[in-house]
This record gives sequence, structure tokens and C-alpha cells, in this order.
Amino acid sequence: MSENLSPIDTAKFVAAKRACEFVESGMRVGLGTGSTAAWLVRCLGEMVREDGLEIVGVPTSTRTAELARDVGIKVVSLDEAKWLDVTIDGTDEFDAELNLIKGGGGALLQEKIVATASDRMIVIADKTKQVETLGGFPLPVEVVPFGWQTTKALIEETLSSLEVLGDSSSLRMNGDAAYVTDEGNYILDLHLGRIGNARQFGMVINQIPGVVENGLFIDICDVVVIGHGDGRVEVKDITAGTTEQEVIEFLDTENLFSDMAE
Ligand code: 5RP
Repeated sequence: MSENLSPIDTAKFVAAKRACEFVESGMRVGLGTGSTAAWLVRCLGEMVREDGLEIVGVPTSTRTAELARDVGIKVVSLDEAKWLDVTIDGTDEFDAELNLIKGGGGALLQEKIVATASDRMIVIADKTKQVETLGGFPLPVEVVPFGWQTTKALIEETLSSLEVLGDSSSLRMNGDAAYVTDEGNYILDLHLGRIGNARQFGMVINQIPGVVENGLFIDICDVVVIGHGDGRVEVKDITAGTTEQEVIEFLDTENLFSDMAE
């Protein structure tokens, strides 16, 4: 085990490393966004460079595209790939049914489109992302900039009719300006505390004009790989109904991952 990594980075790394086992030569692979997904892209890049793995990657953000190219993965657009064998991505929360809250990194729209266009979605996460009920993490909702304050007010009004604890939302900022997604939209973070019926919630919110998409991923994730700080991983497959445990051995990641920025 490397002594260079903190327990949380070890957890993310071993989850990513184990998830690479789902990837085979010839596959079209959706590449997620965020710090955990960045470990995955690095690991896949190493397999491309060192082991001759032949894949094409469809990134879910401009920053993932840049990283993928940097590590040697051939990048294509979703329209070029059309359909993907697998997408591997991080998450902000997952529950026992493998429903997710995503979008903490601001890439939920592309992430949802790419994951939905895949035979399988594998989520990689450290143990802290596991929750009993979704909603503790503020739910990101992507909205068009036009009339965003009206959209925000409509969303907050709608919250009173839904099974949630909180009813406030905030515009995501990037310094003094609104955060702008890769699609040129804004993000409202909904402070809900608890979402009683996530399926219903996602459908109702998406009906509001101005809402582009929300960060609830319902029935999209097939497998979650949960990493631990001591190198253990759990692989939970919702379709097979199985949970397997193993330990990922690795010696030294210094050369590979020393310039990880996220
Ligand atoms: C980006 C996402 C990320 O997958 C999510 O925020 C988790 O990020 P991290 O792995 O850095 O904790 O949804 O939009």
C-alpha cells in the first residue's frame, strides 16, 4: 500500500482501480467527472499506455476530456460513439437501491446523458457517499440562465408539495459570478435534507419550465464499487443482488498520480 495517499484518496483510488476490471479492449467507455472519476481516468490511461488496452472514451465534461487526452485515452463525442458499453463515474450520494445524487462537480447533465446511453453504469465511491435516504447532499438542478430567478421561485414553491424537509435553494457561484456549466447553464443547489420519494421528485422538478435536468439518477446505476481507506473494496451489483468484498493491492502510485489536481 502506498504511503503517499490519504485514507480518502486510497478509498477513491482502490474503487477506481477495481472498476477498471469492468473495462475490456474494444469498449466504448463513458468517463465521469470529479476527483474519484479522475482516479479512474488515470488508471485507464495507464492500462492504455502499459497494457495495450484499446478503448475510446466519452468524457462527461471538458475537464475530464482534457485529463483523458493527457493520459493517452482516445476521446470521442457521444454522437460519434452513439452507444456505450459502460460508464464509470463518481457520485455525491448513493442509497441501498443504488439511486444517486450527482452534480456536485457541476457536470450532471452530460453525466446523465452519457450514463443513460450506456449498457451499464458503474459508480465508484468512498464509503462516506453511502446514505440511507437521499437528500443530505444539496440536490443540483441545472437551469437555463434566462429567467433563472423565476425558475428558482417556482422550484421553491413546488417543494412545499413534495416529501422533503428543506425548501430553500441557492445559485451555485464561481467566485463572484454564477457558476456556468459546460452547456452554458446555471446550477441551483436545493437544500432538501431528505427526499422522501426521489422518483416522484425528479419527475416533478423536471416539469418546471427553465429546468434542464436534476441530479437524481434513479434506476440508472447498476453496480457500485465502494472503496475503503485500508484498500478494501465492496462491489455491490443491484441486478445480480450480490455484494463481494476484496482487497486491492498496490505498491506505489507516486509516478502515476503525483500531479492529480482534483
Ligand atoms: C460531478 C459529479 C461527481 O461525480 C460527484 O460530485 C462526486 O465527486 P467526487 O468524486 O469529487 O467526490 O457528480 O458532477
